[in-house]
Amino acid sequence: MSATDPGSAAADGLPLGQLTAWFADCFGGTADCAWWAPGRANLIGEHTDYNDGLVLPFALDRGTLAVAARREDGMLVVRSRQASGPTLSIRIDDLRPGAVTGWAAYPAGVAWALREAGHRLTGASLAIDSDLPQGAGLASSAALECAVALAMSWVHGLVIPRPELAELARRAESDFVGMPCGIMDQYASLLCEAGCALLLDCRTGVGTQVPLDLAGACLMIIDTQVRHVLADGAYAARRQECMEAARALGVASLRDVADALAGTGLAGTGLAGAGLAGAGLAGAGLACTRLIDPALRRRARHVITESRRVEDCAAALRAGDVAAVGALLTESHRSLRDDFEVSWPAADAAVASAVAAGALGARMMGGGFGGSVIALVPQVDVPQVRAAVGKQFASRGWPLPQFSDAAPGGGARRMD
Ligand code: GLA
Repeated sequence: MSATDPGSAAADGLPLGQLTAWFADCFGGTADCAWWAPGRANLIGEHTDYNDGLVLPFALDRGTLAVAARREDGMLVVRSRQASGPTLSIRIDDLRPGAVTGWAAYPAGVAWALREAGHRLTGASLAIDSDLPQGAGLASSAALECAVALAMSWVHGLVIPRPELAELARRAESDFVGMPCGIMDQYASLLCEAGCALLLDCRTGVGTQVPLDLAGACLMIIDTQVRHVLADGAYAARRQECMEAARALGVASLRDVADALAGTGLAGTGLAGAGLAGAGLAGAGLACTRLIDPALRRRARHVITESRRVEDCAAALRAGDVAAVGALLTESHRSLRDDFEVSWPAADAAVASAVAAGALGARMMGGGFGGSVIALVPQVDVPQVRAAVGKQFASRGWPLPQFSDAAPGGGARRMD
């Protein structure tokens, strides 16, 4: 690998030279490759991925860098510049769910998922660096998984199509780490293109690039500084409720209800004959009244209406209707707050004060219970939106939020 100058810049802000020098210090040799994978923001489509629905994420210019060298002794050895805990050092043959905990479970899970998929791994040494905050709703876990998956594949000469690699990375998180996530974050990290959001159909895996032309507005990330731990069970509980709602409605997934209401997929579902074909969003309430449990009814209503909002948002982007995009973001937040109940007070306050100060729309992002808000703001109003949100947080005695621009960047790539 050539880039060993500690001052050389790479990977949108992460110094590659420093990491390769650290790799040499840690492992006493040179790395074979360097792969970088971004975190993501999600414009709209929250908690729809594991319901077979649509999402519209884009890649950030912040992410995770992995430099790696092949080993022949069957060991996986990983060090992270962010981790205070010990180095991961484990025989790949000994990997099984529960064998590794903490941050190291993510790279270990990737090796496990590759092995389980039948790929022969001889071992690898990896050094990791990241400029993504953890628990901020920016998919730092997926960035770590994807950078490691690409580096591990490369040193073993494996050519794995990116959609397949995304599924392996998701499996690492779901089946090895124990957080039953959907596919959005891994797809976004591996498949987004610069300047675009990825309209992904999570049932078929078909993605369409949608240019993010925002006509003088920009996307701002407001990190509320409230940290979530999605593996703590609240996310899994929501996922379970969605499955129960689908079962009660007689469909395989809540996506089927959304399709039925749009008049595109009623046949063959348990909703056939319910008079809902083409009933549109108004029909969402009607479909959901079939659910006795009021909480299940609200969860289903969120997923069904959110699916429609993703389609409407992609159409508004293509039509250059930035005001309509903003309105959909704020409506998505309302639905996540009131129906899906995954919002948190600092997100609600950030959304309300950003919109009051001139944002065209804003919403919480990611799994919820902590993390970041995304706001669509006319460029000229950026200073006053920042000031208003900051003032709101200060008046409540909360730690000040962190603001950053969310320029849509490219997906994961080799850096050396
Ligand atoms: C997390 C998960 C994703 C997705 C979002 C919610 O980021 O990793 O798969 O479910 O929450 O939209």
